[in-house]
Amino acid sequence: MLKIGTPLSPAAVRVMLLGSGELGKEVIIALQRLGCEVIAVDRYPNAPGHQVAHRWHAIDMTDARAVRELVERERPHLIVPEIEAIATDELARIEADGLATVVPTARATQLTMNREGIRRLAAEELGLTTSPYAFADTRDQLQAAIDAGIGYPCVVKPVMSSSGKGQSVIRCAADVAPAWEYAATGGRVKQGRIIVEGFIDFDYEITLLTVRARNAAGEVETCFCEPVGHLQVSGDYVESWQPHAMSPVALERSRAIAAAVTEALGGLGLFGVELFVKGDMVWFSEVSPRPHDTGLVTLATQRLSEFELHARAILGLPVDTSLRRPGASAVIYGGVDAKSIEFEGVEQALQVPESDLRLFGKPESFVKRRMGVAVAAADDVATARERAKTCASRVFPKAAG
Ligand SMILES: Nc1ncnc2c1ncn2[C@@H]1O[C@H](COP(=O)(O)OP(=O)(O)O)[C@@H](O)[C@H]1O
Ligand SMILES: [Mg+2]
Repeated sequence: MLKIGTPLSPAAVRVMLLGSGELGKEVIIALQRLGCEVIAVDRYPNAPGHQVAHRWHAIDMTDARAVRELVERERPHLIVPEIEAIATDELARIEADGLATVVPTARATQLTMNREGIRRLAAEELGLTTSPYAFADTRDQLQAAIDAGIGYPCVVKPVMSSSGKGQSVIRCAADVAPAWEYAATGGRVKQGRIIVEGFIDFDYEITLLTVRARNAAGEVETCFCEPVGHLQVSGDYVESWQPHAMSPVALERSRAIAAAVTEALGGLGLFGVELFVKGDMVWFSEVSPRPHDTGLVTLATQRLSEFELHARAILGLPVDTSLRRPGASAVIYGGVDAKSIEFEGVEQALQVPESDLRLFGKPESFVKRRMGVAVAAADDVATARERAKTCASRVFPKAAG
């Protein structure tokens, strides 16, 4: 057990965030409240998490040497990845050398940074139900996989990508070439490998926030938050709410899938398990071994937000996943390309009952960049969604000056 001591002294528990966006910022605030010393790392200066940490660094986190050098200099007890695009093989060496504990485990970060790793683990090793899938390195292989059984419609995604980048739906043979081109240029690396998945005609999709934390006996226990429902547009989340009503069978199956996949990834911390649901049927889609963007709603709904749960779990502390009140979140996009912005309408937005805002403090706005989020609570989810959307719609980022 780590004993939390005075920050900026030899007794400190030092935590290094690799990735310091809006989700990392909330994790950092939660860690700061528990008295940790936090070092925030991102690829550009003044990232949201940089602004609330004890120290910050801007490095290329895919550069193994740069990551190693910084870890040796800062000597964190815990390394908390916030993003997928990291030199995860170096994290594995850092863990193996006993330099630091990687959250939840270095292997989890290796498996989840590539869609192939996590999909093969879930479907082929754990036997979980997923969409039918195949991998392809060329357009011909993609066409062959579709013809051999994936069929139409299907979804193509670069194996290394997130937030819907390079992802598209193929409805007929004429869509194959453009989908291949889009995927080949939209991934994180110009590697070209893609996954093609059969399209699941789900009733709804959820994120099941799942926590692996120590209980009173010191054993690792798996706890679940209430299901988070969400709406994705072009592969990017725009709205989420909690709880999402589910049949008892679908909920039980969802929890069984989440327990299996998080146990296989191991370690301590919070995971966002993405699932598709149709009636009582549940498909595993993917998992983040860290707080999930759709889980921002928990800032309004739970006694402990997903960020506080993550902070507690990784420190070996007890958690409480109980829901306090139904709620919702709605994303605020930049809507403008500008270096420095001002938010108009904040006073009007916060007049919405039981609402709150997070303005992330990103140093540069893009039209489709997430610059803030509105959250709201209410007696029921429908009212909470209306409140969150109204609150978000009143905020307008404008170029400053
Ligand atoms: N096989 C599929 N069938 C139907 N919808 C899908 C499928 N795969 C992805 N989607 C939709 O696209 C969204 C983003 O896909 P996902 O695999 O989660 O990528 P990302 O890593 O970018 O979040 C999902 O939340 C879902 O709405
Ligand atoms: Mg996803």
